[in-house]
Amino acid sequence: MKIFLDGADTGELREAITWGLIDGVTTNPSLLAKTGRPYAEVLAEICSMINGPVSAEVVSTQAPQMLEEGEALARLHPNIVVKCPVTLEGLKATAALSKRGIKVNVTLIFSPLQALAAAKCGASYVSPFVGRLDDIGHDGMTTVEQTMRILRNYNYHTEVLVASLRNPLHVLKAAELGAHVATLPFNVLRQILCHPLTEVGLEKFLADWHASKQKIV
Ligand code: G3P
Repeated sequence: MKIFLDGADTGELREAITWGLIDGVTTNPSLLAKTGRPYAEVLAEICSMINGPVSAEVVSTQAPQMLEEGEALARLHPNIVVKCPVTLEGLKATAALSKRGIKVNVTLIFSPLQALAAAKCGASYVSPFVGRLDDIGHDGMTTVEQTMRILRNYNYHTEVLVASLRNPLHVLKAAELGAHVATLPFNVLRQILCHPLTEVGLEKFLADWHASKQKIV
């Protein structure tokens, strides 16, 4: 499973890259707005830091403008993947962008049929938002499971990029389902890598070792 960092904080990205398992980055207008920096500047910096797909979302709501923005974003760097919301206009823009050879990550997906529609429009990635479904009492992972099954049924090459992940169990379930990508906020990524029992076990090993007053070699 590919692991992307879900965020636009380049300090967090720099730290996460040292952990050796980041395959790409996803951003969205909220995450980029939080940086307080120009959109294009942050995206260019992220693309210079990681050699993998970097999702950047359009902010227009009508297809012609989405197309213009998508082409402009794609010109920033070869690794840019244009994010379009799964609205009617977003699907039109996805079809037009993918016909121009521009990769699209269709986002804000909350049902498997939205994912099917996006795949039919040529999406390279579909992003079901698990956490936001869970937040309203739906089982977000069921949407992922249904989406995986539907895309496999018809041999779509569209990758399922599981998003809006709130905790390690979301990451575990996404991996068990065979999702192509999970995009994790920095805190969740750190949570899955720093297990409390590992910390406790190592402390005990080292305490016993130091008490033995031995040298390693
Ligand atoms: O960036 C897309 C998605 O991962 C954001 O999810 O619900 O944490 O804002 P959320």
